[in-house]
Amino acid sequence: MIRLGILISGRGSNMVALADAVDAGRISGAEITLVVSDHASAAGLVPARERGLKTLVIERTGRSREEHDREIVAALREHKVDIVCLAGYMRLLSSYFIEAYRRRILNIHPSLLPAFPGLDAHKQVLEHGVKWTGCTVHFVDETLDGGPIITQRIVPVLDHDTEETLSARVLEQEHKLYAEALALIVGGNYEIVGRRVVVR
Ligand code: GRF
Repeated sequence: MIRLGILISGRGSNMVALADAVDAGRISGAEITLVVSDHASAAGLVPARERGLKTLVIERTGRSREEHDREIVAALREHKVDIVCLAGYMRLLSSYFIEAYRRRILNIHPSLLPAFPGLDAHKQVLEHGVKWTGCTVHFVDETLDGGPIITQRIVPVLDHDTEETLSARVLEQEHKLYAEALALIVGGNYEIVGRRVVVR
C-alpha cells in the first residue's frame, strides 16, 4: 500500500475528492494515512474526521518556515507517508521539505500553468481576458507552481463569469483531475524526462 499524506489549509474539497476516489477504488494500491492542516480552524478538518481519517493540526506559530516544515515532515515520516498531496495548502514549502519528499509531493493549481501561478488565479485569468483556463496537477519543486506538470484539464471562460462562477466550474474539474493524476503517480507507470512527465 502506498501511504498518502494530504496537507490542507481551508475548505478541503480536493482532499474529500481524493478520499472519495480512494474509497471508490479509483486510486488502487493507496490509502490516506494522514491529513495535516496548518490551521486549527480549517473547515476541511471536519469532513476528514467524519470519515475517520487521522488528522493533525500543526500551526506555524511564529516559527521559521523550515522549523514548521521539520515538524510536518517528522509527522509524515512517523506515519510512513510515501506521497504528499497539497490540497489548498496555502504555504510555500521550504527546501528542507522539498528535499525530504523530492518528486513525491503533488499540488493542484486552478489555472493552466505556467499561466497565472500564485494567488488569485481566477482573478488573474479574468483580468487578462483569456478565453480558456483550467487546472493543473504538478510535482512541487523550489519554484512557485513551477514543477513538472503531471496532467491538466481545460475549462472555458464565459463572458459573464465572475471569480465565483469560474472557480466553481474549475473546481468540479479539479476534483476529477487530482484523482486521475494521483492514480498515475501511485501506479508508478511514468517517468520524468527533463520537465516532461510521460506515461511509460
Ligand atoms: C483549489 O482551487 C486548489 O486548486 C487551490 O486551492 C483551492 C483549494 O480548495 N490550490 P479546497 O480547499 O480543496 O476546497
